[in-house]
Amino acid sequence: MTELVRTESLHKQFGELEVLKGIDLSVEAGETVVLLGSSGSGKSTLLRCINFMELPTSGKVYLHGKAVGTETKGQIKYNESHLCSVRTKVGMVFQHFNLFPHMTVLQNIMEGQRTVLKRNAADSKEKSMLQLERVGLTDKAGEYPSRLSGGQKQRVAIARALAMDPDVMLFDEVTSALDPELVGEVLKTMRQLADEGMTMICVTHELGFAYHVANRVLFLNDGTILEEGNPQQILRKPETQRMCEFLEGHSLFKLPD
Ligand SMILES: Nc1ncnc2c1ncn2[C@@H]1O[C@H](COP(=O)(O)OP(=O)(O)O)[C@@H](O)[C@H]1O
Ligand SMILES: [Mg+2]
Repeated sequence: MTELVRTESLHKQFGELEVLKGIDLSVEAGETVVLLGSSGSGKSTLLRCINFMELPTSGKVYLHGKAVGTETKGQIKYNESHLCSVRTKVGMVFQHFNLFPHMTVLQNIMEGQRTVLKRNAADSKEKSMLQLERVGLTDKAGEYPSRLSGGQKQRVAIARALAMDPDVMLFDEVTSALDPELVGEVLKTMRQLADEGMTMICVTHELGFAYHVANRVLFLNDGTILEEGNPQQILRKPETQRMCEFLEGHSLFKLPD
């Protein structure tokens, strides 16, 4: 097994507020990890620190075994151009798709490849079409986002992230803003990526996805990892009262087995 992402004693503070209180996380290549936790527990902040949209207050992030940043006298310094290249290797998809409304689907997917990776137009286009095929939307290449459903927009956002050739993909509640009947198509795309061997860290409230797709589930509570384990075990037999309550809140109205 090769370790792709590791965080070591990762802390993040916003002013007085300590959001991440020392996260040690290790993700192997090809693994799908689902991160569960209540609102405000620090899930988004953790993902944002892993791709350096936020700088950790202390602690380290390792990619392919190499620490990001250079340490001098206990302080870690980050170089912005290096962080830029890190961000291309750590793809991220958000709850809100943030597609450019004035660009077609194809142009949206090409944009980052052109500006950040400096890929030429022909290569960017070819790569974009491949990724659109992967998410099942080749026929929408020439459409504007306003003509797509929420589920389709989210799949375009996934294709856009994939087109940057990331080593790992981070998903932050990507189905939370969708109408219920559109959730399935996005989860299906994510499942397919997992099956293809993509390394993924997914924040989601879709316990079915966690149960069936994740290799490992982490439960984040108040900035620390409270429980961790294989989904079948941790979702059926959580060890802490806190996680029991969290799961009960999610399954109050589930039909009995
Ligand atoms: N940029 C920020 N500035 C100040 N506080 C923030 C910022 N981002 C997040 N927080 C706070 O950090 C805590 C954790 O937020 P977040 O990581 O978004 O939690 P989650 O994704 O689990 O709901 C919350 O109390 C939130 O208000
Ligand atoms: Mg969040």
